[in-house]
Amino acid sequence: MSLVLAIDQGTTSSRAILFSADMSIVAAAQREIPQHYPASGWVEHEPEDLWQTVVEMGREALRKAEARPGDVAAIGITNQRETVLVWDRRTGQPIHRAVVWQDRRTAEFCTRLKAEGHEELVRSRTGLLLDPYFSGTKIAWLLDNLPGARARAERGELAFGTVDTFLIWRLTGGAVHVTDATNASRTLLYDIHRGEWDDDLLKLFGIPRSMLPEVRDSSASFGTSLPELFGAAIPICGVAGDQQAATVGQACFTPGMTKATYGTGCFALLNTGPAPVISRNRLLTTIAYQFGGRPTYALEGSIFIAGATVQWLRDGLGIIRNAAESGVLAREADQSQTVYLVPAFVGLGAPYWDPDCRGAVFGLTRATGPREIAHAALESVCYQTLDLLDAMHADWSTGEGAGTVLRVDGGMVASDWAMQRLADILGAPVDRPEVKETTALGAAYLAGLYAGIFPEPVAFADMWRLETRFLPSLLEIQRAEKVAGWRDAVSRTLTRRT
Ligand code: G3P
Repeated sequence: MSLVLAIDQGTTSSRAILFSADMSIVAAAQREIPQHYPASGWVEHEPEDLWQTVVEMGREALRKAEARPGDVAAIGITNQRETVLVWDRRTGQPIHRAVVWQDRRTAEFCTRLKAEGHEELVRSRTGLLLDPYFSGTKIAWLLDNLPGARARAERGELAFGTVDTFLIWRLTGGAVHVTDATNASRTLLYDIHRGEWDDDLLKLFGIPRSMLPEVRDSSASFGTSLPELFGAAIPICGVAGDQQAATVGQACFTPGMTKATYGTGCFALLNTGPAPVISRNRLLTTIAYQFGGRPTYALEGSIFIAGATVQWLRDGLGIIRNAAESGVLAREADQSQTVYLVPAFVGLGAPYWDPDCRGAVFGLTRATGPREIAHAALESVCYQTLDLLDAMHADWSTGEGAGTVLRVDGGMVASDWAMQRLADILGAPVDRPEVKETTALGAAYLAGLYAGIFPEPVAFADMWRLETRFLPSLLEIQRAEKVAGWRDAVSRTLTRRT
């Protein structure tokens, strides 16, 4: 039997999924991980929780599949991106909890760097913005705030890694300190054009080069897991950040293809091919995947609150008991009411990047009730997706095939109502695949490709299967009117009016 074990260490849970040689799912296991909020705007994970859940879920998936030692040919890893871990190279002990991508503690540092005029350097080398979202300023925070950390780092005693790197370090018993190009491209330290860590940026953030992992292709040799972990030594040969892995799992290999993954937030990636496109609309330029030393780039738009809006309906307002009820309520909304919800609970991400604005509801009347609020909440996810895609197409208008179809995945895509509404608001088809576990599939594919079990990308793309295509059903005039109302609502919500 040739199985591939995909490990998906995400923001809210760790998952392990075993794929067979025909890429179907054999077994899966998942466990939530605790979140720590030690101060307002701070988000941390306990490194041992990340590690333990990964090992336990891997073992559970193997048990469920009744796999024998030697059945697993390869491990693929995908992970929450940008989250920072720093550990002692000798003991393997982290010097602090993981500082999670959502953590805003370095906001002031970013503002200062921007005021000093450094954003252009950062943007031109990394494709990113000066925002606390990314790893660089978080590493600097640890070195500056933990007693003795900077001196230890300068003596070469400390190692930095995103979650993939930390897991590989542990899986290989400290033998391998590596990452892949997609994860490196989220750190603020990696020149995505030259494909190497950048000395000017390391100096800007005050990070010693000795802390950094070696960067490899997404499908490559990343070492071998210790035999005592999963019953046999297994080669680790696929690594990608979770949004990039979903891009691979959705087989978005052709320039112009776009996917959107709906989790807590929503991350849309447009494959722009071998040349990076620098956004004029405050999107990110990132590495989608890297094979044979050659990166394929993407434009990325990140919305911080998507599925989280549905959680708010449940936990904040208490108007639904579970996510599925949101679609049921929305479907029954009074269509004559025009209610807009701008879910800027933590500010707005792309393309607005306004960390200071907060959520708002417009168009309330005495007749507005839970149905209309649920309707507005689900529609807000669709409008935000439209904002991202519009910005992408403005940046890449000449790109062949741009804007034809959107491939979707993630929890929210289970709602037919929401997906139909998405197609209506985009005015473009929305494709939902048969395999919904696209992130894990992407990681498994990268590993299985290197291990010679899975076919080359073109053949893999042929295997992608559509489950449902949602076609737009609104007249253009109706769509334009709805979108104009949304844009007006956003402009009234932003702290910096557009
Ligand atoms: O950039 C953050 C992203 O990688 C997090 O994804 O699915 O773990 O919330 P997720």
